[in-house]
Amino acid sequence: MIPDDQVQEVRERADIVEIVGEVVRLKKAGREYKANCPFHEEKTPSFWVNPDKGVYHCFGCGAAGDAIEFVRRRLDLDFVDAVKHVAGRSGVQIREVRSRDELEEDPLRPFHEANAFAQKWFRDNLEDPVVGRSGREYLAGRGIDGDTAERFGLGYAPDAWREFKEAAAVHALDETILLKLGLLATSERRPGETYDGFRNRITFPIWSLRGEIMGFGGRLLGESGPGRPKYKNSSESPVYHKGGTLYNLRGARRAIRATEEVIVVEGYMDVVSLGAGGFDNVVAPLGTAFTEAQADLVQRLARRAFLLFDSDRSGLEATFKAADVLLAAGVQPLVVTLPDGEDPDTLLRKQGPDRLREFLDGAVDVLDRKIQILEERDWFSTLDRKRDAVDRLIPTLRAAQDPATRDMYVARVAEKTGVTRRTLEEEMARLDSPRAAPVRTERPAPRTAAPPRRTFGAEYALLRVLARDRSRRTRLLEMALERVGPQDFKDASDRAIFQAFVDDPELDVPPPGMDPVAAERLARLLEEPPDDASLAHGEREFTAAVARLEDDRLAREMDELQRRIEASEDGAEKLELIKEKERLRQERRAQGVVGGGDYARRLARGFPGLD
Ligand code: UTP
Ligand code: MN
Repeated sequence: MIPDDQVQEVRERADIVEIVGEVVRLKKAGREYKANCPFHEEKTPSFWVNPDKGVYHCFGCGAAGDAIEFVRRRLDLDFVDAVKHVAGRSGVQIREVRSRDELEEDPLRPFHEANAFAQKWFRDNLEDPVVGRSGREYLAGRGIDGDTAERFGLGYAPDAWREFKEAAAVHALDETILLKLGLLATSERRPGETYDGFRNRITFPIWSLRGEIMGFGGRLLGESGPGRPKYKNSSESPVYHKGGTLYNLRGARRAIRATEEVIVVEGYMDVVSLGAGGFDNVVAPLGTAFTEAQADLVQRLARRAFLLFDSDRSGLEATFKAADVLLAAGVQPLVVTLPDGEDPDTLLRKQGPDRLREFLDGAVDVLDRKIQILEERDWFSTLDRKRDAVDRLIPTLRAAQDPATRDMYVARVAEKTGVTRRTLEEEMARLDSPRAAPVRTERPAPRTAAPPRRTFGAEYALLRVLARDRSRRTRLLEMALERVGPQDFKDASDRAIFQAFVDDPELDVPPPGMDPVAAERLARLLEEPPDDASLAHGEREFTAAVARLEDDRLAREMDELQRRIEASEDGAEKLELIKEKERLRQERRAQGVVGGGDYARRLARGFPGLD
């Protein structure tokens, strides 16, 4: 039994937005919040939460009540457990009288108590004028001030073997529990002997949504080495499952809910560093690939997730994996692309929050990013390669749960590869591996001599400007890549030269292994002395050349469509192809104005560094 006055106190102190918001994605609407009702199926929200009155009400199904009632119904708890659940989130200590539950000890309690003890001890150490100095200096060196450290509960585990062990012993904490939590470790050489699990590390407590500490992360001060990893994490334990939670979810949840946007970074330090820079809606997985359970947590709070990982290869892989899991959970993943060699922490430290915000603003939908990358790597140049490109894009199409997103994705891939929507949809519906049988693409008629085009001049002009204007080369390349790729160069050597610039914008001699004809041509281009007048005109010449290459590509695509229209025997498909061709015609017309055009604008979103 819980005394009535306590139930009343819980009712008064409960934050209903917080409690409902844990299981339903709420959207602010004036002073209230609304959502799709969790108690009946609906497509438009008729479920309202009123924080002032502490109640919810659904105009669709009539469900109504306070926080306790919500929890009781939604989580299917009995009244006492529902009150306890809400009390736990409202800072009310329940004293039950003579109930069965009071006699039953909560089996997890000793684990939570041990973690809470460790947290206090780590915090005290960090604040200790002597013991905590190296920890404080380390944090200061990484731009993390005392307030931020406090907000994230950062602490310090001293450079010693038994200090924590002894402090815990004084408080009579159970060693087996400390071992299970990873707060103590056993010596391999002397079995039975235990020592501190976290030594000489900054500690990051991992809070559950209800405010219990589940575990810790620890960042080594100084150099890592064998047996001294840079990061150490709590072991899996009865209270900590790393795949089932996100670092800083508790701290970030309000900010996430307010914007329905979350920033996902790689780990502890990025979260804290962004926190110091004023970004409050940041979470990180805990040393695993992004799991479904984590995506589900995100989905309850956010509509869109900005994936802000390292720009290197493994970062990109992690990004795409996380994106597919998020898509499957119904969250839109947006990919933030940082300059080579930067991670969120370094970028923020070197260039400040405003600059990081610009990169966030430049985030592109994951499918667009995949297409960009395939494009940069020349995957749309031939029919065979397009077919492979489709295979690579299919998993993302499949992952998209939301029908509108899926529809848009299919349309975009169809447009990009020339594979019809119907074929794509059939392919997505297949249960077996997409690689088992390649996507069927309509074979074009044998290549009869296409009318010669005027690209050779443009190709050469473009390469000449690139070669001469070394200082603006990176920018020019980015500009070009918005609209054309290596595949648009018809001459094999020109194509190889352009590719070489893409691979290394700094190059000043032909790269080793280049085909001799291309190498010779590139060497000559690089030797040609730049003169001021031509540099001044270079940019205009360059833009014009890019426009010509792009126009040429569109013309080629139209030719190919025409062949397919003539070959097609299916009326519906023919119509699709004709529409497609008409769309290209209009695009070409729009491209007539250099720099304009829908196509360029769409792709340009992927290059936030440009003005
Ligand atoms: P870094 O390796 O860059 O960590 O990891 P760092 O502490 O910034 O180290 P240095 O100073 O650059 O060498 C990138 C992100 O991944 C997290 C880090 O906290 C940081 O947010 N991370 C790394 C983990 O969470 N766990 C790990 O085991 C490793
Ligand atoms: Mn780093």
